[in-house]
Amino acid sequence: MNKPYVYITRKLPEDQIKPFKDDWEIGMWESETEPVDKETLKKEARRADGLLTMLTEKIDEELLNDVPNLKVIANMAVGYDNVNVEAAENKGIIVTNTPDVLTDTTADLAFGILMAAARRIVEAADYIRDNKWDNWSPLLLAGSDIHHKKLGIVGMGRIGQAVARRAKGFDMEVAYYNRSRKYEVEEEGLAVYESFENLISTSDFVMSLVPLTNETEHLFNGDVFRKMKKEAIFINASRGKTMDEKALYEAVKGGEIKGAGLDVFEEEPISSDHPLLTLKEIVCVPHIGSASKETREKMMNLSLQNIQSVLKDEEPKTPVH
Ligand code: NAP
Ligand code: GLV
Ligand code: GLV
Repeated sequence: MNKPYVYITRKLPEDQIKPFKDDWEIGMWESETEPVDKETLKKEARRADGLLTMLTEKIDEELLNDVPNLKVIANMAVGYDNVNVEAAENKGIIVTNTPDVLTDTTADLAFGILMAAARRIVEAADYIRDNKWDNWSPLLLAGSDIHHKKLGIVGMGRIGQAVARRAKGFDMEVAYYNRSRKYEVEEEGLAVYESFENLISTSDFVMSLVPLTNETEHLFNGDVFRKMKKEAIFINASRGKTMDEKALYEAVKGGEIKGAGLDVFEEEPISSDHPLLTLKEIVCVPHIGSASKETREKMMNLSLQNIQSVLKDEEPKTPVH
């Protein structure tokens, strides 16, 4: 019997794929850093029984119209807004993601950019690098406190809850808004539920941890930034399109809010001439939420295991629905 063909859209380490080589014929995009081009992806998908994709690949209906053998798309991310799941499911293709294994790592980064924005850590490091440090002075690079301040988390899922745990360790007051109530979170004393309106207008830090969907696109818009406190800092560690980037720029520039910490952007990657980078109150990092070596290895392995299960007619560990 022919071995199933699995195409991987980025170069993964040999030790990750080795265990699967006896069972599959494997094709892999040659670059670790550049995403696969559309034509190659189309051609490979036409032949593949399984696809292992990154969040940089758009798996749309057009592509899914010409995939006669495809049984599984394993997206190496917990977010799957890059995949048209409905179109895939209509064709009987299973879509999987990588929840849980990246929760704590992403929460660490989200809390890290919150701290960096509040305490001006990046600006302060640049200050020394730019040879500006002449003296200690009482208000030199004075930022905002984190402890005993209020954090409002929008999207109280796995990562939201992990961030709330970190915030509790910093003696923060934590509130959340989520489309469904999370009673277990409230019973644990991790966070109190608030309406979206109340949360955004009373929090010192507002953090987006909602998936990108039709309902959450531009959830954080000009109106919302205007309702926030003037001292508020906005953190986005979910998807860039949950915020209106132009409105955020205007809000920080116009002093409607104090600053922001961003791991994600509306169109990625951004380059050094992006307007957000002209504001020192905004800390930008390049979508590195889950980027620890340990966690990225777990995400690779979980994606490969998911493909293995589907190709063996078994339930994958983490299907998206
Ligand atoms: P999750 O456990 O599914 O949590 C998402 C939460 O958002 C759920 O509680 C969900 O509520 C809620 N939600 C969905 N739509 C909503 C809406 N319209 N209004 C209010 N709340 C809504 O997912 P997760 O593992 O925490 O990951 C969250 C997101 O983070 C991912 O989707 C991904 O986009 C992003 N992410 C980013 C990075 C990074 O590198 N920056 C890394 C990992 C993940 P229900 O319980 O009602 O469904
Ligand atoms: C990363 O952004 C993910 O969704 O896993
Ligand atoms: C600062 O370094 C202090 O000692 O307060």
